[in-house]
Amino acid sequence: MAKWVGRCPECHSWGSVVSAAFRPAPVVVAAAPAAPARPISQVDLHSARATATGVAELDRVLGGGLVPGAVVLLAGEPGVGKSTLLLEVAHRCALAGRRALYVTGEESAGQVRLRAQRTGALHDELFLAAESDLATVLGHLDSVDPQLLVVDSVQTMSCPGVEGSPGGVSQVRAVASALITTAKQRGLPVVLVGHVTKDGTVAGPRVLEHLVDVVLSFDGDRHSTLRMVRGVKNRFGAADEIGCFELTDDGIAGLPDPSGLFLSHHDGAVSGTAVTVVVEGKRPLLGEIQALVAGSGLANPRRAVSGLDSSRVAMVLAVLERRGGLKLAGSDVYTATVGGMRVCEPAADLAVALAVVSAESDLLLPPRTVAIGEVGLAGEIRPVTGLRRRLAEAARLGFRHALVPPDVEGIPTGGMRLHPVTDVASALPWLRR
Ligand SMILES: Nc1ncnc2c1ncn2[C@@H]1O[C@H](COP(=O)(O)OP(=O)(O)O)[C@@H](O)[C@H]1O
Ligand SMILES: [Mg+2]
Repeated sequence: MAKWVGRCPECHSWGSVVSAAFRPAPVVVAAAPAAPARPISQVDLHSARATATGVAELDRVLGGGLVPGAVVLLAGEPGVGKSTLLLEVAHRCALAGRRALYVTGEESAGQVRLRAQRTGALHDELFLAAESDLATVLGHLDSVDPQLLVVDSVQTMSCPGVEGSPGGVSQVRAVASALITTAKQRGLPVVLVGHVTKDGTVAGPRVLEHLVDVVLSFDGDRHSTLRMVRGVKNRFGAADEIGCFELTDDGIAGLPDPSGLFLSHHDGAVSGTAVTVVVEGKRPLLGEIQALVAGSGLANPRRAVSGLDSSRVAMVLAVLERRGGLKLAGSDVYTATVGGMRVCEPAADLAVALAVVSAESDLLLPPRTVAIGEVGLAGEIRPVTGLRRRLAEAARLGFRHALVPPDVEGIPTGGMRLHPVTDVASALPWLRR
């Protein structure tokens, strides 16, 4: 019997309970399948094979290229280069003899053409439409019949008959679902641009990331030309790959070998620096950590951090004070990476510690030395993942010595000389005049 309920017993909110008629679950009747189920070894492979986009660094993240019917979401902050990258992808597609349709709801067709002229992406098989109505976009699809669709951006498109303003939760969901249905029906790869909110997540409903097949995040430092595409989700390949690009006035170019970018090229050795190897996705990258220690007149000395995780740096400084006998209480400490690199991996801890001590004492690490290891609260050096890959990359770039965590027996050194250190205090004597 129906009874009035004022407060929801689950979420405790008032007046949110509505009455609904009870309907029994419908009985599902068997229907004849359009395509019969087949033994797995007889399933057609062709329809699931990726086609390379021609932008090698992107293909690496996608797991080879675009699969027919796949919907990819490329999310990033404004100005990071999403439109530039996707115009390049559409251009490469056109160059390979496959027609591409680029739909822009953000800019006028003239603006996109200007960008294409600047970046050398003009091609007659690259079609352009400035459109924000989804029904018209589907109309364009029928008349152009492309083999790649780029929609810039999912937040500017609106679906007729759906409530809410473009970019809102219901509109974004409706636009994405309609495009996904179209993509699957036509076997057409679709790339959607997605805006991100201040905290770096994709704007709009969370469900968007579940709907699409691939989610890529595109980021880079405002003050550097380096851009990285990271796989966040990938139904067709590994999600831990990254692609590196350089964004210049002439457009965007892949950077197959970005490691050297994050090292400063000193002529002589300079105190306050230490080189480490971080792993981004599967890719090892050499990075230089710099530190400066200066006498402070402040009651609370400054602790400025750039490119590193400030809480990890604070932890390393505390360990150095307590376990390394370093006196930093009266000093400002600045720590930074080079070239806009962002390092949040614990594997860089040892290099941070050595850079700070080097800055404070004016002592130097031996030339061509990298330092790899996580620093624990007891000052112990903890093992890191992928050590073998890190060593190989350091060796490739001409490094010869590596300070590493203990227990490295049997690890291929790639020509490097390994110097296991058990704790921070035993690493410090490596700093010399
Ligand atoms: N005419 C231009 N000359 C040089 N750089 C430009 C020009 N127009 C735009 N840019 C730069 O290209 C970068 C990428 O822009 P864009 O691809 O539109 O980014 P997004 O689509 O991610 O917002 C921006 O940082 C911008 O400063
Ligand atoms: Mg744009």
